Amino acid sequence: MFRWAGSKRKQVERLAEYWSADFERYVEPFAGSACLFLHLNPDHALIADKNADLIEAYQVIIDSPDEVFQAMVRKKRIASTYYYLRKQDPEKMTRFDRAVRFLYLNRNCFNGIYRTNRQGTFNVPFSKASACRYLTKREFMDSVECLRKAEFRDWDFGTTLRYVRAGDFVYLDPPYMVDSRRMFNEYGKKPFTPEDLHRLKCHLEKIDERGASFVVSYADCKEARDLGEDWQLKRMRVRRHIAGFSDARRSAYEVLITNIEK
Ligand SMILES: C[S@@+](CC[C@H](N)C(=O)[O-])C[C@H]1O[C@@H](n2cnc3c(N)ncnc32)[C@H](O)[C@@H]1O
Repeated sequence: MFRWAGSKRKQVERLAEYWSADFERYVEPFAGSACLFLHLNPDHALIADKNADLIEAYQVIIDSPDEVFQAMVRKKRIASTYYYLRKQDPEKMTRFDRAVRFLYLNRNCFNGIYRTNRQGTFNVPFSKASACRYLTKREFMDSVECLRKAEFRDWDFGTTLRYVRAGDFVYLDPPYMVDSRRMFNEYGKKPFTPEDLHRLKCHLEKIDERGASFVVSYADCKEARDLGEDWQLKRMRVRRHIAGFSDARRSAYEVLITNIEK
């Protein structure tokens, strides 16, 4: 549905090994494109992200999929249309138009990066239509069928995790602090901080105490080893292009931190 910086699209098969249909609910507090959720297609889910524009777009797509799809494909995939829409003030638009704008900009911007300036204005440049194909109507509607089974919330992860209960499977893919140190504003106004990472660590303990299961994806770094010191930690090789520039595409290591016995 959406392209997203740091998307785990290429890793869904490996991550799916931790999921089983016996889990009662799927919970994802750092949703982004929610590609693991869309791949697993669980019957019940709670999907959240601090990015309120993203969550609103999901909600509008669920309510009016046909209309959103038609409105998006009617817009020309050329620089002038893109910059005209980018210039619009989302605050002055209807929910519907805001969601169409969000989806259109997401599909036509450089590398699917969500980045705002200090005023919170989306400022990613245009990318040629050939760089990213649109979903077909069938693919779009199939994704909507999956989205309809979830509750969507624009919450900080701390709020989402307070709703975790026994039998839940929680997939956590926070922004990497290593990256947010280098790239101001990749995901929104405030990058992920050491305090956020500490909060996350405390929450992992609580998820486990409640009888729920979790899997965390994180960059392989000192912070990850600290975050996962009480849990199983598995290192894996991935291809990344977080910075959005071809010379920054490189093979790197990430870790999975989990309380699931495998
Ligand atoms: C690495 S991305 C998730 C990518 C996702 N797994 C995918 O495959 O597309 C991290 C996400 O966390 C969100 N985020 C950042 N800080 C957050 C917070 N404090 N609470 C909830 N979400 C947050 C960002 O908006 C971003 O969408």
